[in-house]
Amino acid sequence: METMPTKTKEKKSEAEPTRRSFFNILWIGLGLVALAEFIAVAFAFLRPRKSKAPGENTDLIITAGAVERFTPNSVTAFVRGKFYLARLEDGGFLALSRTCTHLGCTLPWMEKEMKFACPCHGSAFDITGNVIDAPAPRALDIYPITIENKMIKVDTRKPIKRSAFRVEQVTYPKKKV
Ligand code: FES
Repeated sequence: METMPTKTKEKKSEAEPTRRSFFNILWIGLGLVALAEFIAVAFAFLRPRKSKAPGENTDLIITAGAVERFTPNSVTAFVRGKFYLARLEDGGFLALSRTCTHLGCTLPWMEKEMKFACPCHGSAFDITGNVIDAPAPRALDIYPITIENKMIKVDTRKPIKRSAFRVEQVTYPKKKV
């Protein structure tokens, strides 16, 4: 009768190290997985990123929409690309920077007054981007426009500085022959 508990104790003591070693292995395994993940994340974070050269970044070429979408003598703001698309009375297009050429404030378009009015020091520009009120020293920068299959695309990669508006800066849709 006394031998039974001893056997059970022996069995228990035999089973204990196996269970303990199983959990030890499990914890070591989980620790290694966590360590591997940490190393992978740290490596991805520290690896230098290849930045695209300004000329390569085609994300900055914005499709503004079809020609018919824009009525003559109108200005449409584009948040992506940060520009205004002005359609002049004669049907031509100009993509204007929304940055004031005085000290760089963002210009709102005043629909009723048909002008860009700078909230900072009072400069104003007409629909072509020409200065109508100082202190702005020159016309608004423009971006190149291409029109293919009646779709207008604006390349915002490099603004073009100009002193004043000239008709050669306007892009016209192709007329039907
Ligand atoms: S920043 Fe526009 S007038 Fe000064």
